[in-house]
Amino acid sequence: MPLLPWSERFKLGIPSVDHEHKELVDLINELYDSLGHAPTKDAVMAFLEEINARIHAHFALEEKVMRGMRYDELDAHKHEHEDLLDGIHDIMDRTEAGGFVDLEAELGPRLQAWFGNHFATKDARLHHFMEEQGIDEESFARQHPDA
Ligand SMILES: [Fe+2]
Ligand SMILES: [Fe+2]
Repeated sequence: MPLLPWSERFKLGIPSVDHEHKELVDLINELYDSLGHAPTKDAVMAFLEEINARIHAHFALEEKVMRGMRYDELDAHKHEHEDLLDGIHDIMDRTEAGGFVDLEAELGPRLQAWFGNHFATKDARLHHFMEEQGIDEESFARQHPDA
């Protein structure tokens, strides 16, 4: 059972965005699988750091586009991104301090709930808006390097 099973609930209906989100979810699952049974604390920390970095990079790109186009819901959207990262940092802190964190019981459901909610609401609004305006995330970010 993957840590974060892909769900139809995650889909926005915009193929390029759904593809990008699916890649992120697949990557989290692959990294989790490669941890195997009874991983060391260092391996768990490396896993958490890696998924934190990948998720952070995904959010940073969206936030850059939102800033560049002066998106009206930037603050609220960013706030939700920060909330998930805070949750991951909390798990990292407890792991680092030597506590056992049951990732399948804590991280999995948290990611599942957060992605399900965020993709269906904040990301759906943002990406449908971008689609209406004919804005492509990657090229927009390249054209606005300082946003
Ligand atoms: Fe997203
Ligand atoms: Fe987002």
